[in-house]
Amino acid sequence: METRTNTLDVKKIRQDFPILQREVHPGVPLVYLDSTATSQKPAQVIDAMDRYYRYTNANIHRGIHVLAEESTADYEAARQKVAQFIGAESPRQVIFTRNTTESINLVAYSWGRRHLNKGDVIILTEMEHHSNLVPWQMLAQERELRLEFIPVTEDGLLDLTAYPALLDFKPRMVAFTQMSNVLGTINPAKDMIALAHQAGAITLVDAAQSAPHLPVDVQDLDADFFAFSAHKMCGPTGIGVLYGKKELLESMPPFLGGGDMIKRVQLRSFAPNELPHKFEAGTPSIAEAIGLGAAVDYLTEIGMDKVESHEKEIIAYALERLEEIPGVKVFGPEAAKKGGVASFTLSSIHPHDVSQILDRHGIAIRAGHHCAMPLHEKFGLPATARASFYLYSTREEVDKLADSLYEVRKIFGM
Ligand code: ALA
Repeated sequence: METRTNTLDVKKIRQDFPILQREVHPGVPLVYLDSTATSQKPAQVIDAMDRYYRYTNANIHRGIHVLAEESTADYEAARQKVAQFIGAESPRQVIFTRNTTESINLVAYSWGRRHLNKGDVIILTEMEHHSNLVPWQMLAQERELRLEFIPVTEDGLLDLTAYPALLDFKPRMVAFTQMSNVLGTINPAKDMIALAHQAGAITLVDAAQSAPHLPVDVQDLDADFFAFSAHKMCGPTGIGVLYGKKELLESMPPFLGGGDMIKRVQLRSFAPNELPHKFEAGTPSIAEAIGLGAAVDYLTEIGMDKVESHEKEIIAYALERLEEIPGVKVFGPEAAKKGGVASFTLSSIHPHDVSQILDRHGIAIRAGHHCAMPLHEKFGLPATARASFYLYSTREEVDKLADSLYEVRKIFGM
């Protein structure tokens, strides 16, 4: 079994993931190719959360007893780890949310409603996930804003020749994905941000797919807001991150009201708490934050540069194997310009049928519009099948995918 690429000892890594040892049908091992939807979790993360519930469980920032103090320390240590992982200046700029979607909604709701008015322009791209479209559409409807879009080329790249003309509209916000969840395209975020800043815009990077798969550095990018989810980077569901520049976060009103986000409350008024607590109303996802901290430790120890290189090797091999299959069309750019995501069609066979047949071989992929309906419409498709890879993916799994796609062709009489 070929499990070692030039960069990672995948055989060893796979042993950390209990789920990768299971069979999904009798005698049929799991081939998990759906990490873009959610990644699997290593024992290190599962154990950290288990330890928290067994030995430390208490609410944070509230009690003066050992458990409360330990829980608070562990929760805040996780914030510190995340800050380091993304290169933030201070952990106070790391807000824990539920996921990327909530992070973007927080910005649209709080920053958008504080700063945007009728006629203001927001630039998005045609390759956005619904999470980075709908919150802005809701805001645009309410405030009579104008949305403009950087187009996507046939090759699945952003058509950045159109960007300067859009910036001439003097947008207030430019929000875009750093890596497409459908095409895998890695966008030149640093250059896009620099141009947006020259035009006077604030930027938001949807890093749901990039933060788990590439080394990221918010200060090097000069991103104003940066949003991602734990569950796509070996961590648990129910926790995500919003990073923001301090002066922006300080200029924004709270998103949700309740406990922990206040400094003082009177019957008819309140004074908001300091960052980051101002944006963390109510008891947060404590075990999940600790799980995210463990995921950050896990990925940091392996090295994000190595994770990225491994995925480059796997996607290059996957494109080679997929493109040799008659009737397969893979969307998105060449391997060098993308992460480990291959969305494809197989002749006129519906992606749901492809996915169902692959499942018989233990292969888990996603079929559908992947929460990017406008992008699928652009390519004239209702749906694609999507195989996606992570640090535990192997060339052997790619071979199983390719072999099983030949089986699908046979079943459909091709
Ligand atoms: N955003 C996730 C995906 O692309 C759910 O599958």
